[in-house]
Amino acid sequence: MTVWALLVAAGAGERLGGERPKAFVGLGELPLLAEPLRRLDESGWIDSIVVAAPPGWEEPTILLAEELAATKVVAAVTGGTSRAESVRVALAEVPHDGLVALVHDAARPLVTDAVIERVLAPLSDGWDGAVPALPLPDTVKRVEHERIAETVSRDGLVAAQTPQAFLVTTLRAAYSGDLAGATDCASLVEARGGRVKVVQGDPKLLKVTTKADLEIVASWL
Ligand code: C5P
Repeated sequence: MTVWALLVAAGAGERLGGERPKAFVGLGELPLLAEPLRRLDESGWIDSIVVAAPPGWEEPTILLAEELAATKVVAAVTGGTSRAESVRVALAEVPHDGLVALVHDAARPLVTDAVIERVLAPLSDGWDGAVPALPLPDTVKRVEHERIAETVSRDGLVAAQTPQAFLVTTLRAAYSGDLAGATDCASLVEARGGRVKVVQGDPKLLKVTTKADLEIVASWL
């Protein structure tokens, strides 16, 4: 099967502060984007990569790919105003013979071959998609106006991560409609009745949101 990685990197990353978009904040010697880009490029599971870059950062994205000798990068498209819009733009670059799309947040730099393999495997078993997830360690509350309205049972609840893998036809159908409120790809596929399997996630797929997250990821490198 032909596997296309869609690396969404167009977020502003306002909570990180600084002048650059999150994907171009430093992680070690290089921009954060370099880490997931290199890992996807080196993965034997991935054939081609499309990056959704922050507006105005398409050229630096291509230069970074060249610097890393990431030969699978076929396009750096301009990301949209939401994650879902960025996925839609990147998905439009996948040709008709592309079978599988693996969508990954650049903000989760430490993607591994092991998790890529775990999300791809269910697609050969008749699933429409697969998502890595972790159980919730904390007690979960629903809050209304600062007051706890309810303590939600953790039974059956998980926190979804990326990379998320789907058949391209499934993902195209999911992204053909209204994208409002979609914080991941699976939610749009589920809404159309798609069967999405949950596989084991990885704590090191932490999403970098704050400077403290960036320091944690740097310490894991
Ligand atoms: O904003 P959030 O943390 O949900 O972002 C998750 C991923 O989606 C990040 O890698 C970010 O760069 C990407 N994103 C995007 N386009 C946007 C917003 C977020 O590609 N407009």
